[in-house]
Amino acid sequence: MSETWLILGATSSVARAFAQEAAASGDGVILAGRDRDELERQAADLRIRHGSLAHTLAFDAEDSVRHGKLAEALKGAGCINIFAAFGFMPPQTEAEADPTLALRVISVNFAGMVSALLHLAPLLERQGRGKVVVLGSVAGDRGRLSNYIYGSAKAGLHAFLQGFRARLLRSGVSVTTIKPGFIDTTMTWGVPGMFLVASPRTVARRCLALAREGADEAYAPTFWWLIMAAICAIPERIFKRLKL
Ligand SMILES: NC(=O)c1ccc[n+]([C@@H]2O[C@H](COP(=O)([O-])OP(=O)(O)OC[C@H]3O[C@@H](n4cnc5c(N)ncnc54)[C@H](OP(=O)(O)O)[C@@H]3O)[C@@H](O)[C@H]2O)c1
Repeated sequence: MSETWLILGATSSVARAFAQEAAASGDGVILAGRDRDELERQAADLRIRHGSLAHTLAFDAEDSVRHGKLAEALKGAGCINIFAAFGFMPPQTEAEADPTLALRVISVNFAGMVSALLHLAPLLERQGRGKVVVLGSVAGDRGRLSNYIYGSAKAGLHAFLQGFRARLLRSGVSVTTIKPGFIDTTMTWGVPGMFLVASPRTVARRCLALAREGADEAYAPTFWWLIMAAICAIPERIFKRLKL
């Protein structure tokens, strides 16, 4: 049965690939984000390429006052699934030097996601079915010297999603936390020290497959569980001295 995906942060590289995969399999998409012109271009492309139902919606993770209107805007759209892909990762050195920027990292990646999902939760509960897929990060598994501000926002998000999953389970809605490793996207352009970099398409495909399984938490690609298990096993007294 075809479904409709609300994609939050739809201009993200992974979200674009996800929208293509979902539309190719016959699902409708509602592309939500800040750059309305770009979203309209993406929607037109999906309509032409796949003949899919594709609409756009204004969404800013930091504008929590307007998150209350999200559910209203979705009235009449049928049964909604959510793919939440927005994120913000400025260089850590800049966030360390400017705590206001650090707060924006928390605001977008954690507070914005919490706000949007809590506003959408009653709609999901009324539906009594559906899927929520959220992009966390391996960065949330352990606070690293080089990325602990963004990592702490993702760690908070992972914990939030555990409880949110338990809440929505009671209404027949699955909540899937995806923890990607490095992906070749705008976010990581020029970031030094990346390895085993995945394509947005690989990650998007895995997200869609895991959503269909109703999975709880998973790494993307899968092998990151092994890398993160090793990283998490390093004793703190050693870990704090590493330049990771
Ligand atoms: N790339 C990686 O290696 C990697 C690894 C692990 C996890 N992730 C996570 O994967 C997700 C997708 O990231 P990506 O790599 O595809 O990055 P990307 O291409 O840089 O996309 C980031 C997206 O976030 C949106 N965004 C930023 N601030 C926003 C705000 N205030 N309100 C609404 N949207 C906002 C951007 O919208 P605009 O177009 O309006 O700027 C853009 O669509 C993110 O959650 C990221 O944290 C990425």
